[in-house]
Amino acid sequence: MSVESVGAASTGAVPASAEPLLSVEDLKIHFPIKQGIVFDRTVGHVYAVDGVDLAVRRGETYGLVGESGCGKTTLGRGVLRLVEPTDGSVLFDGVDVASLRGEELRRMRRRMQMIFQDPLSSLDPRQSVESILVEGMRAHGLDRGRESTRQRLLELLDSVGLPRTSLRKYPHEFSGGQRQRIGIARALAVEPDLIVADEPVSALDVSVQAQVINLLEELQEQLGLTYLVIAHDLAVVRHISDRIGVMYLGSIVEEADSDTLYREPRHPYTRALLSAIPVPDPRVEDEREQILLTGDLPSPANPPAGCRFHTRCPWRQPERCDTERPVLRELGGGHRVACHWAEDIEAGRIRPHEVEAELVSAGGGVVEVPDSVATTFRSGGGSGVAGP
Ligand SMILES: Nc1ncnc2c1ncn2[C@@H]1O[C@H](COP(=O)(O)OP(=O)(O)OP(=O)(O)O)[C@@H](O)[C@H]1O
Ligand code: SF4
Ligand SMILES: [Mg+2]
Repeated sequence: MSVESVGAASTGAVPASAEPLLSVEDLKIHFPIKQGIVFDRTVGHVYAVDGVDLAVRRGETYGLVGESGCGKTTLGRGVLRLVEPTDGSVLFDGVDVASLRGEELRRMRRRMQMIFQDPLSSLDPRQSVESILVEGMRAHGLDRGRESTRQRLLELLDSVGLPRTSLRKYPHEFSGGQRQRIGIARALAVEPDLIVADEPVSALDVSVQAQVINLLEELQEQLGLTYLVIAHDLAVVRHISDRIGVMYLGSIVEEADSDTLYREPRHPYTRALLSAIPVPDPRVEDEREQILLTGDLPSPANPPAGCRFHTRCPWRQPERCDTERPVLRELGGGHRVACHWAEDIEAGRIRPHEVEAELVSAGGGVVEVPDSVATTFRSGGGSGVAGP
């Protein structure tokens, strides 16, 4: 079963009025670039996260998607305060995470857990499953006696679908999917409220991806968890997310509930990402138009001025795009877009043009530029964003 065939999107499950468990406000995380052996001079910065606003409601799954290097992992780490923000704030359950110290910070950390892309490298190969699971419980005072801990460990294994005999085994004795289940059990062991899942299935075989996604959904339902799911693959986030934020070069360029984003993408970058996902119906696939982005993602150490997408945008205009950074603004119904020309593009008043690219049909033949906005663009670069 592919991820595409996993149950319906959970859109609408969480009311828009639900209060946020996590609020990220104008978050910036810049890494200094150092040079010199004797004097460590800062010669520039990597603007990995550069002004992100988002809110994740209680019980919701927020999907964060974007190309490799756009700052997704850094944002996730910033939320958990595994990296210090340069500016902006992270509020968890109404409390500014940066203000916490010592015991308070430790208690807050228990409530936010992370699941990593590569379970093998995130699990210590010298620790048995029992020791991996008990470690976090012990650190947070949840190891309350031999018998109750043993009961809890068995309960954890049951809940992630691992055999009870797993406790004495080591990570290398499991398959990739099972190892990710251990990673999930480790996160659950400390009874968190929020789980940041960074590419939780991208290291797994497609057949196993759906099982792990389903498991995450079941656990959310049982335990009332809130998820921030990070992926470069839109197909993965679509089926698990209530809402989706699309990230480009350190900031969010579009945000909407999952169905709306897929049905009515309003930002040129989102349109390009969506057009890169193959459609299962071969007739639709043959006729479908694609926008393939020219060139690679610009360096986050030297991001383009104005709209950061202007170097690759088929709708780029001579005014504003190169000089004025668009803010993420509400277009109605919780749909937010950071593009100066979103309304004009939607209404067809602005048409796409070539970005030093050859126009081809999805089948490969050269075509005229059609009137529709979903024009086919192909270049040597490719978007670097995977379909399913
Ligand atoms: N500790 C660090 N020091 C310097 N630069 C860093 C550091 N961590 C990340 N970066 C840079 O910040 C940018 C964003 O990286 P990040 O890992 O957050 O991207 P990502 O969207 O998670 O990418 P991927 O999909 O490949 O995981 C990259 O250019 C990366 O090289
Ligand atoms: S602001 Fe301009 S360059 Fe940026 S996405 Fe919109 S049209 Fe494209
Ligand atoms: Mg990453």
